[in-house]
Amino acid sequence: MSYHADPRAVIDQPCEVGDGTRFWHFAHICQGARIGRNCVFGQNTMVADGVTVGNNVKVQNNVSIYSGTTIEDDVFLGPSCVLTNVTNPRSQVKRQSLYERTLIRRGATVGANATVVCGISLGRYCFISAGAVVVRDVPDYALIMGVPGRQRGWMSRHGHVLEPDADGRCKCPESNYRYQIFHDQDELSYLRCLDLDEEAPLPQELSEGRIGYEELKVPRVQ
Ligand SMILES: CC(C)(COP(=O)(O)OP(=O)(O)OC[C@H]1O[C@@H](n2cnc3c(N)ncnc32)[C@H](O)[C@@H]1OP(=O)(O)O)[C@@H](O)C(=O)NCCC(=O)NCCS
Repeated sequence: MSYHADPRAVIDQPCEVGDGTRFWHFAHICQGARIGRNCVFGQNTMVADGVTVGNNVKVQNNVSIYSGTTIEDDVFLGPSCVLTNVTNPRSQVKRQSLYERTLIRRGATVGANATVVCGISLGRYCFISAGAVVVRDVPDYALIMGVPGRQRGWMSRHGHVLEPDADGRCKCPESNYRYQIFHDQDELSYLRCLDLDEEAPLPQELSEGRIGYEELKVPRVQ
């Protein structure tokens, strides 16, 4: 296996780690964890037994990924964000066999210091803002803000707030990819990219950020 771990990281064996993954100092990977290729685990991160982490996942400093959690490819976990695995923890009651599941789907971002209450799914490319507390399932591309977390709009795959027109069409100012809001049979809204399948990788030329967030920011329609 050709991963790189700082000598001060602790990688308990057996566990699976893909090529090109890097662990900074004080990362702790527990026995039984499965981690994909080209991930980065910052200082003081922890991955528990039984957790699966996909490829190209970025885990910033001070993040613990507890048993019951599944992280798909291309997820970004911001510094000091908190994932949980028991809704009603009590020190006197053992619930190790009752860990609840949390699924963080491809391309999702969890902002700094946000908390994800367990038993929910975060959709593909959703964006959880810094400090939010997420308590229910999140749709693909949804922008979630606040405590409790509420949907405040849609975020493109490149991380820009989208401003849909009256027909639900919008365009990412960075990639120029077009997005469209649709409605399911229960009249719930969902967003899809019209130019790139959600499961497809980004083309190389769109994988390098060149313009800062503020420069591309579209004024928010209130
Ligand atoms: C969600 C986010 C992208 C919004 O940025 P933005 O579009 O520049 O937001 P604005 O500054 O235009 O603020 C729009 C409104 O949302 C509010 N707001 C902005 N960020 C917020 C947050 N994290 N939580 C709650 N409200 C927030 C603002 O106060 C403002 O409210 P108002 O209209 O009542 O004045 C940004 O706040 C964020 O959380 N980014 C994640 C950063 C992060 O965690 N990085 C980790 C790696 S370093």
